Amino acid sequence: MPNTLGPDYLKNSVWKPHLFDGKVVFVTGGAGTICRVQTEALVLLGANAVILGRNPAKTEKAAKEIATLRPGAKVLGIGNCDVRNIENLTAAVDRTVKELGHIDFVIAGAAGNFLSPFTSLSSNAFRTVTEIDLIGAFNTAKATYDQLREHKGHIIFVSATLHYKGLPFQSHAAAAKAGIDSLTKTLAVELGPMGIQSNGIAPGPIEGTEGFDRLVPEDIRQRSLELIPLGRLGKTVEIADATVYLFSPAASYVTGQILVVDGAEWQSTSGA
Ligand code: HXC
Repeated sequence: MPNTLGPDYLKNSVWKPHLFDGKVVFVTGGAGTICRVQTEALVLLGANAVILGRNPAKTEKAAKEIATLRPGAKVLGIGNCDVRNIENLTAAVDRTVKELGHIDFVIAGAAGNFLSPFTSLSSNAFRTVTEIDLIGAFNTAKATYDQLREHKGHIIFVSATLHYKGLPFQSHAAAAKAGIDSLTKTLAVELGPMGIQSNGIAPGPIEGTEGFDRLVPEDIRQRSLELIPLGRLGKTVEIADATVYLFSPAASYVTGQILVVDGAEWQSTSGA
């Protein structure tokens, strides 16, 4: 499977083994492609993890598979967790603390999206996506705040680049991601005095992800490749590496930033 990591990640990577020994990461959307690979990298580097999703079977299966990556790794899969519902998240935090001890890192990655012209997008559809993406991100921060404060933790919000310019058929998700970037910065300022870091990662076109497969129609994929200055799609491992960097001590003075990992795709003037 191209979009999961194996032990080779450690052999080929610049990161120090055991970098995250003793750390626990709490990941919403952790059974999806990007957030799963982020979790895999952290687990390979020593962390224990909890992944949360709406689909119990998918979430528990992913947790079991991630746990096989490192002997002794503890990875909890909590299904039936809808980030729109803060009670689901607070229950998941309680269970994590009970079973894994504490939470150091949080990845707010759960998202929902589809292509829709504004003219056919219903108010309920707009609300649904902003509730999953933006309110879900807020709920995740809110539910994990006590743990983040206690352990001088770090939250990473998974954003996007689709709100950097007007992108058709994405009014719902773009508005939500713009709100997430704003939340990232506000929390960096409000929670910084407590030792909490708040950053974002904005993936560009990443191959093999649900977002790219579902949201970029086949006929414009080839054209979109030509518009990426680095000349290729990104890989999930490149998002994982950005995550490792931000959670590592190398980024201890970095907060309130959105790290764009997109091969300069959005800045490409020919892509306007
Ligand atoms: C127009 C749509 C629609 C579509 C749903 N709706 N799909 N409208 N086009 N394709 C409308 C429905 O008609 C309804 O409005 C409203 O949205 C709510 O739909 P539900 O199905 O009831 O919502 P729910 O079951 O909560 O599903 C959430 C979802 C769904 C987001 C709509 O697509 C989903 O669960 N997706 C899986 C997660 C996902 O999308 N992952 C990929 C994320 S990728 P009405 O008016 O009829 O009541 C990503 C990357 C971003 O985020 C960056 C990309 C570059």
